[in-house]
This record gives sequence, structure tokens and C-alpha cells, in this order.
Amino acid sequence: MTRKKPWGGRFTEPTDELVERFTESVSFDSRLYKHDIRGSIAHARMLARVGVLNQAECDAIVEGLNSIERDIEQGQFTWSMQLEDVHMNIEAELTERIGEVGKKLHTGRSRNDQVATDLRLWLRDATDIVRAQLRVLQEALVDIAEREAETIMPGFTHLQIAQPVTLGHHLLAWFEMLHRDRERFGDARRRMNVSPLGSAALAGTTFPLDRDFTTAELGFDRPSENSLDAVSDRDFAVEFVAHAALLMVHLSRIAEELILWMSERYGFITIGDAFCTGSSIMPQKKNPDVAELIRGKSARVVGQLNAMLVLMKSQPLAYNRDNQEDKEPVFDAVDTVTGCVQVLTALLPTIEVRRHAMLTAARAGFATATDFAEYLVGKGVPFRDAHEVVGEVVRTCIERGIGLDQLELDELRGFNAAIDTDVFSVLTLEGSVGARKHFGGTAPDQVRQAVSRARRRLADDQ
Ligand code: ARG
Repeated sequence: MTRKKPWGGRFTEPTDELVERFTESVSFDSRLYKHDIRGSIAHARMLARVGVLNQAECDAIVEGLNSIERDIEQGQFTWSMQLEDVHMNIEAELTERIGEVGKKLHTGRSRNDQVATDLRLWLRDATDIVRAQLRVLQEALVDIAEREAETIMPGFTHLQIAQPVTLGHHLLAWFEMLHRDRERFGDARRRMNVSPLGSAALAGTTFPLDRDFTTAELGFDRPSENSLDAVSDRDFAVEFVAHAALLMVHLSRIAEELILWMSERYGFITIGDAFCTGSSIMPQKKNPDVAELIRGKSARVVGQLNAMLVLMKSQPLAYNRDNQEDKEPVFDAVDTVTGCVQVLTALLPTIEVRRHAMLTAARAGFATATDFAEYLVGKGVPFRDAHEVVGEVVRTCIERGIGLDQLELDELRGFNAAIDTDVFSVLTLEGSVGARKHFGGTAPDQVRQAVSRARRRLADDQ
């Protein structure tokens, strides 16, 4: 069936089929249907309030829209490419169902303010979902951090063993990254939550619209200040995708560490069978594919951010059809982020920590050399000299294939006379992490305190 274009009046020739296929957006923007209907209902109620529609007309429109929503939900709605987008599909169907009065819905409105409103509403819900998911992921991290508050592992710089840290501390570093992400999404939500409705095509409308009413109906904080800006602004979408990209960068870093830790070379963890996959040729393999895919999928969202920025660059005011291209990057960013956060949250509790392997690795790398130098400083040796002395001790240990704490006191004294028996408590890994007991430090006690602060921060910030 050929559907009549709502904008067909000034045209004498039908749209080329190639153009129909090229310009349509309904194949992806039908995802906005719920929010489109919500916006339309608010608009219809407002029109009745200001006397543009009578109550019976308004009721018929609202009822018609509700029945369309039900049908879409049950998969009983046929989307038509000829009607371009979600907005025209729903409007045409409304008129089909309730007759002439359906044609009054679009009074004082344009698809330009309509689509801007829909996307803000849709993304606001998506933002709330992402923030809620992030909270659950953070909670999972806090639980494991508490359990592993005393677990010693090597801390790395340059991927070389640097100083011992506790696993709990390491996991809480991930928590902090995600916490900033969650805050950023909260910030973005505030700027997103502004109503463009009533801006019409670009210049507003001659109808006496009550913009405060639709703003309140749709749960927005305020109406947009400028109609030209409102229909053309996609900053809120760029911001969301930017925050999503940074979140994905964080997830890729977490995933990368899980992959390294599970490799035989590290052997720090195993990930549960249910969250790994095998090889079709090598029977012995158990691969961390889920973590690898999270790492890989970060590329998509970083790419979508680029797409959004370039999409908006150099666009003159006000609405341009370019803006139709905003939806797929946004949808893909939301789908990728929600998928990754969900699977990582489910994966974490399946991790088995090999504490012994972590401890052994921390022992192997002279990880307490800095503690040793700081010990000498405590005995009055200037730090640069202490650094030099410990460097020589380390070289000796490398030559003999032993650890720092395996040298006899006499030998140690040969390097510097200030060294005494109390040095051995400093050279142990437990002594090292236990001594880093300042706020934000890796000591088990500090980790436990950080865990309770983290739980409080999650509780305070709903
Ligand atoms: N499908 C369009 C979009 O996504 C809706 C707005 C179309 N407006 C217009 N004047 N052609 O942006």
C-alpha cells in the first residue's frame, strides 16, 4: 500500500524509491515509539488546556495513541518505510484509527522539536539504566575488595613489579574510575533534562502553547530557552556518548588486567567456566573471551563519539537532516555499554583469586626495595644515598638469585652500617603494605575503611 506523505501537498511527483530508502529512519528510530507517544500525549493535553483542542478531541487522541502503543508492544504494528520515521508512522496510524481529529495533533509542533524531545526522553531513561547498572557493578567490586583487603599482590608501573599492594586496594581503584563515570552520567542528565517541545520547526509557533505544562508533564526540569538552539542542539547526546566512551575505556582497562591476570604467566586468577570459551582446535584452551570482547567493544563507542562530534561540526542553525544520523551512534553506545557492564558484573563473582600466586609474584620482584630505602632514611641516610645503597643490594640479590629478606644481617651491614635487625620487618611484604596506612593507602586497614566509605558514597548518591 502506498501511504500518503504528510508533507506531500507541494509535491507533484512521488518520491523516488531510492530516496525513500535513503532517507528513511524508521528502521532504527522506531525504538523511540514509547517516548514519542509520551511526548504526543503531553502535547495533546496541553493543546486542550489552552483551548486549541476540545476535551473530546484530546481524549480521542490520547486513547488512540495508547492503543497504538499497546499494538507496537505486542508486535502488531506495521511500520512503513514510506512514512519515513517513527513520528509520521504513529501520526498516520492515529488518523487511520480515530479519523480527522488525528490530524490536529501536530498543531503547533514540528518533527524538529518532536524528535529532539523524544531523544532526550529516551536517553534520560537510558542514562538512568546505565547509572543503576554501574552501581551494581560498583557494589560487586566493593564486596570483593572487602574479601581481599589483605591479599598481597605486586603493584606494577611500566608493567614491571613496583611495590606490593593489596588486591582490595587494586579493586577499589577500579571502583573510583566507575564512580566518576556514574557522576558524569548524572551531570549529563541534568543538561539533558530540558524540554525543546514548543520550539516547533525552529522559530516557535503562533499558537498560545503552555510550555511549562508539557515540561512538567514530561518530567523535564525546565523548557529550553531558545527555539533555534532547542531544535538543533545535540550536545546532550554528544555528552552521553563521550561519557560512554570514557566508561568503555575504563572497562577496557579492567578487562585487560583480567586477561593478563588469567594468563599462565601471571596465574593470578581464573574466571569461571561459564564466562570463558574454548578453542575449536586446541582442546586444552580456556580463553577469557568475554573480557577480550569488552576490551574490543570499547572501539565501537570511541568511534561513535567521533561520529557524533563530526556530525555536529559546522552544522548551521537550525535543524538539518544530518541530525537524523545522531540516533544510531547513541543507540549503539547505549547497547554496548549496558551489555558490557551487565556481563562484567556477572563475571566478577566467578573469579577465583589465586592468592598464593599473587604473593609469590610480589616476592619475586624486590617489591620492598622502596621500603628498604625509606627505612634507611629513617636511620638518617639521605634518600638519594639510600636509593643507591638499596640498588647495590638488589644487584647482589639478582646475582645470587635470592630475595632481599634472604640476606644475613652482617651482609646487609656491609652495605650500610645503619642497618639493624628491625630491617627485616620492613623487607616483608606484609610490613610493606601495612606501613602504607595513610588515607588512600593500600594497607589492609585502610582498604577496609575505604570499603565502608565506598558503601556510604553509594548509599548517599541515589
Ligand atoms: N527523522 C527525522 C530525524 O530523525 C525527524 C525530523 C525530520 N524533520 C525534518 N524537517 N525533515 O531527525
